[in-house]
Amino acid sequence: MRIDVLTIFPEMFQSPLSCSILARAQKKGLVEIFLTNIRDFATDSYRKVDDRPYGGGPGMVMMPGPVFACYEHVAAQSPLKGPVILLTPQGRRFDQAKARELSQLERLFLICGRYEGFDERIRIGLNAEPLSIGDYVLSGGELAAMVIIDAVVRLIPGALGDQDSTREESFSNGLLEYPQYTRPEVFRGMQVPPVLLSGDHAKIAQWRRQQAIERTRMWRPDLLEGRDDIG
Ligand code: ADE
Repeated sequence: MRIDVLTIFPEMFQSPLSCSILARAQKKGLVEIFLTNIRDFATDSYRKVDDRPYGGGPGMVMMPGPVFACYEHVAAQSPLKGPVILLTPQGRRFDQAKARELSQLERLFLICGRYEGFDERIRIGLNAEPLSIGDYVLSGGELAAMVIIDAVVRLIPGALGDQDSTREESFSNGLLEYPQYTRPEVFRGMQVPPVLLSGDHAKIAQWRRQQAIERTRMWRPDLLEGRDDIG
């Protein structure tokens, strides 16, 4: 998979991309991540990429010219095709299902905005999908792009070791994950639930499912709405 990030702050990506699973996935050749600076495609001597909104109002808007020029330059670097995503709070909310969908692509473009947002012609002209990582406003799309890259790349087959399987993790069955315990059996007076030490796999599975449902009901009741398989 090839991921192209278009941003005016490529340096923000250096450390997240050079640690842990993202670093390993790149080393193994499972993903190539390219960072391109939108500012390099500005056409004036101030390297301007934003301007005031028509109609008035606060803040600045990303201009279409530099973003289009940057996209066209980057797209031409490889014959691989893929969708264009705009990081913005004004979009559909990113979730695990979307991460799974994106992890199957051969190419993905992520365009990060700053300021008040993008000139609407960027979305229309590049047929881009606006995606938000949550109902809060960041000062730019860079952190959101990193969240998406992390969630997507770890789902590419081979990115995780056998030990860190994605089969039972939160959201894979629409529920939060059950509680986990490791050694010691007693820590500061708190015991590991005896069922986990019983060796009875059917009982353990039943306990875990019950716990997952209880947690989901407690912390994320919205995930249970409309489900008739959970009493
Ligand atoms: N840019 C600013 N806030 C954002 C958010 N919540 N998600 C994606 N991009 C953003």
